Amino acid sequence: MDFTGKTVLVTGGARGIGAGIARAFHSAGANIIVSDVLDREGSELVEELAGNALFLQQDVRDEQRWQQVVEQCADWGGGLDVLINNAGIEAAMPLVDFDADVARRLLDINVVGVLLGMKWAFRSMRPGGIVGKGGAIVNLSSISSQAAAGGMAAYAGSKAAVERATKVAAVEAGKGGYNIRVNCLYPGIIQTDMVDQLIDECVDLGWFGGSDECRSWLTAKTPLGRFGSPEDVAKVTMFLCSDYASFVTGAGVPVDGGFLYG
Ligand SMILES: NC(=O)c1ccc[n+]([C@@H]2O[C@H](COP(=O)([O-])OP(=O)(O)OC[C@H]3O[C@@H](n4cnc5c(N)ncnc54)[C@H](O)[C@@H]3O)[C@@H](O)[C@H]2O)c1
Repeated sequence: MDFTGKTVLVTGGARGIGAGIARAFHSAGANIIVSDVLDREGSELVEELAGNALFLQQDVRDEQRWQQVVEQCADWGGGLDVLINNAGIEAAMPLVDFDADVARRLLDINVVGVLLGMKWAFRSMRPGGIVGKGGAIVNLSSISSQAAAGGMAAYAGSKAAVERATKVAAVEAGKGGYNIRVNCLYPGIIQTDMVDQLIDECVDLGWFGGSDECRSWLTAKTPLGRFGSPEDVAKVTMFLCSDYASFVTGAGVPVDGGFLYG
């Protein structure tokens, strides 16, 4: 796929799935803006990409920062063609141990952060916006939005909100004549720091005897018999942002090795 001359913003792009997506678009010729709260990892990734890449410090909860970041995309990259709303956090906690502060932080990042991203991308990309050339948005939902796993009420709720908001956004953008398509992904078990953290939490909660046992269980639940990689997610993301998906909007695509049906 060729994204030469396109400007792509990936939130939470310093590591994990976001970094995989940033690398893939960069290889396809795009100008990449990686934003994250992790300065060191973000700067190292941009150094590795060596050209056509910029790191911006951004907390996706901060609306004023969203406005600045979108303007910087136009100044530095000459536009904003693609937004990947990838930044997110997880927390496993059974409802009897529900922690409202943890849940509020999670919902603020995973839901409000994505809604703000769509707001400012719409304002930039739609006709009359500072870029005004239309574009594509992909939001990172999760298999958790489609299934019920113990301990994941807050996280699953946040990802279900992302899924539904994606569809609402697709309708608003389509009917509003914005020339912007909005889709989301349901990744399964993708090997990143987040999954390492989830496995540790599940072991700490006493649900598995150790991390190897948890890993084996998750692998067995996945019909393709392995964890996914950030590259697996990146390939589908690029498809959704490309002309090959020119009539696809409001869709949610599992990238889960069959987990939801396993
Ligand atoms: N790894 C999986 O198996 C999996 C499965 C389904 C969905 N997802 C979703 O994919 C996305 C990426 O997950 P990952 O596995 O790469 O996780 P990760 O923890 O490796 O990376 C997430 C990134 O988001 C950044 N981030 C966190 N809070 C932020 C904030 N307030 N503002 C800006 N950046 C922030 C982190 O610093 C980090 O770089 C998340 O939305 C996650 O919920 C992951």
